[in-house]
Amino acid sequence: MPKDAKSPKKLRSNRAALAHKVGYALRHPDRVGPYVRRAGRDTWLRLRHPDHVGYYRAVMSSDARRSPEAAVGSRTHDRWLALGQIQFDYLIEHGLRPEHRMLDIGCGNLRGGRHFIDHLDSGHYYGVDISPDILIAAKRTLTEHGLQAKLPHLTLTGDLRLDFLPDGHFDVVHAHSVFSHSPLSVIDECLAHVGRVLTDTGFFDFTFDRTEGTEHQVLREDFYYRTDTLLTLAARHSLHARFMEDWEKRPHGQSKIRVSRSPLPS
Ligand SMILES: C[S@@+](CC[C@H](N)C(=O)[O-])C[C@H]1O[C@@H](n2cnc3c(N)ncnc32)[C@H](O)[C@@H]1O
Repeated sequence: MPKDAKSPKKLRSNRAALAHKVGYALRHPDRVGPYVRRAGRDTWLRLRHPDHVGYYRAVMSSDARRSPEAAVGSRTHDRWLALGQIQFDYLIEHGLRPEHRMLDIGCGNLRGGRHFIDHLDSGHYYGVDISPDILIAAKRTLTEHGLQAKLPHLTLTGDLRLDFLPDGHFDVVHAHSVFSHSPLSVIDECLAHVGRVLTDTGFFDFTFDRTEGTEHQVLREDFYYRTDTLLTLAARHSLHARFMEDWEKRPHGQSKIRVSRSPLPS
C-alpha cells in the first residue's frame, strides 16, 4: 500500500475529475498507456454487458486469464500472501473460532479464504463469487494447500440476495475488496439480505474505498464512498453499523465497516 493512501489529500481527491486525471498523467506518464488500454476494454465490456455483474464478471475473466493473483488486486505473490494474512489476523483478533461458520462474499482465489478454511472446522467455510474463472483458480489454491479434507463450499452466484442460504446460519460474513468494485445498488442488495443469514451475535465486515470528498468511480471498476453513505444504508436495512477504527492502522488502503443485527460490544 502506498504510505499516503489514507492521507487527507488522497481522501479528498476525485479520481474521476479531469483535473485529477491530467495531473496524474503528468506525474506518471508511464501509466497513461495502461490506463488508455483499460479504458478501451472498459468501453467494450460495458457495451457487451450493460448490467454490472455481467460486466465485472467479464473484467475478472480477462484479468484472471493473465494472473488470478493480479485479478484479485495483488501485483506480486508476496503481496497476495500479505493481503491474505492481514484479513486472517484481523478476524482472529476479533474472535473467529474453528466452530464458527463463515460466509466469504467475493472470495476470489482464496487469498484470505485459504487461511479461514484451514482454521475453521470442516464444511464451515462458504465462499461465493460472481466469476467462474476465479472460482476455478480458487479450487487450484485449495488443492495446492492440501485443504481438500476441509470440504469448503465454493459457489457461483449472480447476485447478493443470498436466497440459497439458510436463516441465522453464519457467525461471520466477510467481503474484502468487493464493495470497492461495486455500485451502490449491489451493496444495497447485499445489506438488504445479509441480516437474514447472520446469527443473532454474528457480524458482517466489509471493506470499501473511502472518500471524504465527492463520491466517484473510476471506469466501472473502482468505487469511492463516504462512510456516512454506507452507515446510513445499513441503518435503512435495520442493521447496526460501525466504522472499524482499528482496521485503519493496518497496511491496507481501504477502510472497514462492521454491521450486525443486534448491537455488538465495542
Ligand atoms: C479484489 S477481489 C478480492 C477477492 C477476495 N475477497 C480477496 O480478498 O482475496 C474481488 C472479488 O469479488 C468478486 N466480486 C465482485 N463483485 C461481486 C459481487 N457483486 N458478488 C460476489 N462477488 C463479487 C470478484 O469476482 C473478485 O473475485
